[in-house]
Amino acid sequence: MGNLSFPEDFIWGTAASAYQTEGNNFNCDWYGMEQRDLKNPPEKRRFKEPCGLACDHWNRFEEDFELAARLGIRMHRLSIEWSRVFPEMHRADAGALEHYRRMIAALKRRGIAVMLTLHHFTIPLWMERQGGYEKRAVFMKHFREYVEAVVSALGDLVDCWLPINEPNVVPLGGYLTGAFPPYRTSPLAFVKVYRTFFDMHASCYHIIKRRFPHATVGVAFAFIHLQPYDEKKAIDRLAARFANLTANLRFFQGITSGRVGFPLGVGASFPSLRGTLDFVGLNYYSTTYIRGLFGVEQSREGDLVTDMGWVFYPQGIYEVLKYLGSAVRLPIIVTENGVATTDESFRIRYMEAHLGQVHRAMAEGVPVRGYMCWSLTDNFEWDRGYAMRFGLVHVDFSTQERRVKEGGEWFSRVIRNGGL
Ligand code: FCB
Repeated sequence: MGNLSFPEDFIWGTAASAYQTEGNNFNCDWYGMEQRDLKNPPEKRRFKEPCGLACDHWNRFEEDFELAARLGIRMHRLSIEWSRVFPEMHRADAGALEHYRRMIAALKRRGIAVMLTLHHFTIPLWMERQGGYEKRAVFMKHFREYVEAVVSALGDLVDCWLPINEPNVVPLGGYLTGAFPPYRTSPLAFVKVYRTFFDMHASCYHIIKRRFPHATVGVAFAFIHLQPYDEKKAIDRLAARFANLTANLRFFQGITSGRVGFPLGVGASFPSLRGTLDFVGLNYYSTTYIRGLFGVEQSREGDLVTDMGWVFYPQGIYEVLKYLGSAVRLPIIVTENGVATTDESFRIRYMEAHLGQVHRAMAEGVPVRGYMCWSLTDNFEWDRGYAMRFGLVHVDFSTQERRVKEGGEWFSRVIRNGGL
């Protein structure tokens, strides 16, 4: 690869989420799901392990942000844990909000800009008990109260908002395909849940803009790159197109236009969604194969895969960026990309290849403004647990000691050199 330089003001960042890093979040649905899962006999358990202390980031954020500053990180993406801010219904915890203010201030003091997410997969247990995402009206009433509280307590310190992480992932994986907790496969629940996510994004946008008209608001969209398992089979090709339409295109078009086409919705419309994006955030990791009508295959023989079992497929990020660039006239930020591995030469190869493809898209006119690595530190990878090491910084989970990995040093050099 030759020299690839990125614009001087390119946003080199890192991303993380509350539940995966903070530790001791015992009041949210994810904790509840883990506890219920533990009651199953070991062979029936679906969660690798419970979260517990995670990276103890709640108490060690100064140290973590100091490391980020040393790496040269320009923007860090973090999320707020709803169940900390509202430990009970209608009771905001001023102490928790104050703590988040100190966290954000700790980034700003180091010259690191803040991208804030308000919902990254978890909801309070008390909200889950009332039917969670499926009870849209009740859910939205409480969610709005939470968003209002955060926006008024922290909004003046936020540089960029990314309220909802992956509005397609929980509905699709959690309620339709059953690939992700709570592992449901109910088309009816899926429809209810995705509608709630659409409302969540729209509400956040309007609440933020009412208070801060010049705020920058986006969404982190998980564009799941899909392709036929066997290119020669018409059924695989057709099914892959249909899956792409459902999992990606209709979601994306829904959020950008407020209109939801077949097969996601037939003429359903969400007028409050129209014009609610200042930029598009893309989370990209891999490609997935579609085999026959309902078959989903994570990889094919011969594929190079990460510890997650996800295929190394850098050209996918280029293809998705090209699509986004042609579908909307909005700036794009890669809000997550990274790899679970313990092999630092693979981490470097992965990031180098993906950045190369980002550069290629940019050279062809796609307005990519930044790239955020998932993740700053090793952390708790949802139902896959602690073995999935995505961090630029290694965490020893028995001592909580941090150590910058080779991949972290490499990324730091990329930032300082302004490219590859
Ligand atoms: C994304 C999630 C993030 C992390 C990465 C590996 O889908 O947003 O929390 O788990 O995958």
